[in-house]
Amino acid sequence: MRKIYIFDTTLRDGEQSPGVNLNTQEKVEIGLQLEKLGVDRIEAGFPAASPGDLAGVDAVARAVKNATIIGLARSRERDIEAVSEALKHAQDPCLHLFLATSPIHRQYKLRMEKHQVLEAAEAAIKYAKKYFSKIEFSAEDAGRTEIDFLVEVTAMAIRAGATVVNIPDTVGYMTPDEYGNIFKTLKEQVPGIEKIQLSAHCHDDLGMATANALAAILNGADQVEGTINGIGERAGNTAIEEVAMALETRQEFYQAKTSMVLKEIYRSSRLVSKLTGMVVPGNKAIIGANAFAHESGIHQDGMLKEKTTYEIMSPDTIGLKESKLVLGKHSGRHAFREKLVDLGYELSEEQVNAAFAKFKDLADRKKQVADEDIRALIEEKLIETPEVYVLDKIQVAYGNQTTPSATIRVKIQDGGVAQESADGNGSVDAIYNAIDKVTMEDVELEDYSIKSVSHGKDALGEVHVVLKQNDVSVQGRGISTDILEASAKAYLDAVNRLIEKRKTPTSNRSNVTLI
Ligand code: KIV
Ligand code: ZN
Repeated sequence: MRKIYIFDTTLRDGEQSPGVNLNTQEKVEIGLQLEKLGVDRIEAGFPAASPGDLAGVDAVARAVKNATIIGLARSRERDIEAVSEALKHAQDPCLHLFLATSPIHRQYKLRMEKHQVLEAAEAAIKYAKKYFSKIEFSAEDAGRTEIDFLVEVTAMAIRAGATVVNIPDTVGYMTPDEYGNIFKTLKEQVPGIEKIQLSAHCHDDLGMATANALAAILNGADQVEGTINGIGERAGNTAIEEVAMALETRQEFYQAKTSMVLKEIYRSSRLVSKLTGMVVPGNKAIIGANAFAHESGIHQDGMLKEKTTYEIMSPDTIGLKESKLVLGKHSGRHAFREKLVDLGYELSEEQVNAAFAKFKDLADRKKQVADEDIRALIEEKLIETPEVYVLDKIQVAYGNQTTPSATIRVKIQDGGVAQESADGNGSVDAIYNAIDKVTMEDVELEDYSIKSVSHGKDALGEVHVVLKQNDVSVQGRGISTDILEASAKAYLDAVNRLIEKRKTPTSNRSNVTLI
């Protein structure tokens, strides 16, 4: 069976999603999970964008050993050198070079003629050869490029020394037939095409990213690029879990497979959602909360008689285990440990103890602790940020006829305690005004979202915020059975990250654009 290589770009194209800003530790965490997921290639970032991006790629390259690590570069010497610097500790480095080829991009963005595009790309690939043996060349906006010119560009890239040629549908404009035909034509017409791998990179503007990637596979693509949960620029990229599961479930049709460890899909999806703050819609294919839920009576009846009546894949395949053990306030350490094993967590003794203390605290406030609650507790502190401020006390006065006010008391890292009160337009606004007074940080709340972790009135609430100070954006997360407490925790988490980020001033992305 033909192997399809999976090129994951969650850390590059995925990180270009509006509002997403991962720090180095979070990038490494995702990189390590992608390694467990068994993707072949990981695009870790765009090193020339900023020293922070370079440091992020470097950190992923040092940590991840069982995947090719890739850095993105425009067709410029400075960008190529930045990738070379960022990947010097990678076990298996690869450069991803790109230049736009479509008439629209040539005329308005690059102001270059066809022959200039060919010359610039060729020069960049040849220059890159000094540093890299593996080079992927992307003809940006290939989907809207004249097919004859794309044949010429691909032939040039092969002659110049590219090892992979990528055909991006940069703006998500293609239909599956059109996109598949591009691959067919390149396979038929480009001399030396058998020497390289052809790659598909699709965007989801018209909701066809996965269908287009699969059409490319049917027409000879060797590699598919995409992201976990399909996150990415605008409407996002092809979701790699969808491609992997389509090839698995419809093996007889596609006659192709990936090396992905399917059982790691669910965990990868949760991690990316948690660290990016991008919530997965309930109806999302494969990884949405409802993807394996059967609501209608007829479906439930069918499922009880024979699962395959309505289920084409098993939740087990993607690592979504239904655990039978129900925990509550009388559950002991032993049952808790069993549950962690059931849910697939491998934690140290110290981590189990810390999680157990949090579980006991939660069980006091909540009758039944659901699997989702336990996952949320464990994942709350996945990334340890040094805590300058820890929430100690929160008190809120709200009435629909009065001005809401809040008092916040925090413990400070140096051992002190600080307390402030403030009014606001609403309870959350009052809390955030009080925190601003305590921390004396001048920040702007760019984004606030809240979701329920499990079901019921006593469900845990999870808050995600994005704070901005000058050009620096940070995220923060907080969970609690009380949404006001979760809101305060998320805000303080973001402030703590901001303070940490100031200590490493290279960590924010600059506004270099991909041109
Ligand atoms: O969509 C696109 O064209 C890209 C390139 C940089 C490959 O992401
Ligand atoms: Zn893209």
